[in-house]
Amino acid sequence: MKKTQILSEGYTKVVYDTDDPEVTVIEFKDTVTAFRNIKRATIKGKGRLTCRVSSLIMGYLNSKGLKTHFVKEDGDNGQVCLKVRVIPVRIIMRNAAAGSIVRTFGIPAGTALKHPVVEMTYKNNDLDNPIINRDHADALGIATYQETEAMIETSRKVNSLLCELFASIGVQLVDFKIEFGYTADGTMVITDEISPDTCRFRNMSDGRQMDRDRYRYDQGDIIDTYQELTNRLEKAL
Ligand code: C5P
Repeated sequence: MKKTQILSEGYTKVVYDTDDPEVTVIEFKDTVTAFRNIKRATIKGKGRLTCRVSSLIMGYLNSKGLKTHFVKEDGDNGQVCLKVRVIPVRIIMRNAAAGSIVRTFGIPAGTALKHPVVEMTYKNNDLDNPIINRDHADALGIATYQETEAMIETSRKVNSLLCELFASIGVQLVDFKIEFGYTADGTMVITDEISPDTCRFRNMSDGRQMDRDRYRYDQGDIIDTYQELTNRLEKAL
């Protein structure tokens, strides 16, 4: 299987087409961004670590019977993945208050939520990725009721599995973002990445942040922290 042309390139990943019509190769870049890409940097080794964590998590979800695009790792910062048509919706799952929910509702960061909170945003950079609900998604032709229900149900399962997995390595899963797409045969699968760039993690013993918030809020080195998270996951899986 050989890479051919670039299918798409974002700030943090490049997706390559291959000579196999069913798969792509995704390369994770060393770029890290924050606040709608206004803050940006290149941090050597970051792509390798987000790739590794996402591979471990997607592989774990596959092993638990959830369907993801992940097939196998490819070198240090690449993955062979099923080719998907991405649904332009981001599902956000929250277990405790952090980030935008703190600003929206004026509650203290870290406030426990009585139960997980699901949010959806419309993936559209020109519109600043607005929050939407299932009515918006269906009425505007972004995703049908059936599709949003399926995505939310799977996201809840992912949340349960990952809360348990991360608790077993002493880490609280505060919140995360997840995306979905369809493979050529019409199967809905989890796509994009699940990594410290797309989740919030808190170290249970000292409350230390172990995710992209370290970069967002200048909390110091991210490589050491991402590496520590990777090491703990590798031991657990
Ligand atoms: O910023 P906010 O609090 O809404 O983010 C919720 C979760 O979604 C965080 O874990 C954040 O890292 C993730 N997220 C993301 N990509 C975005 C927006 C949010 O991975 N474009």
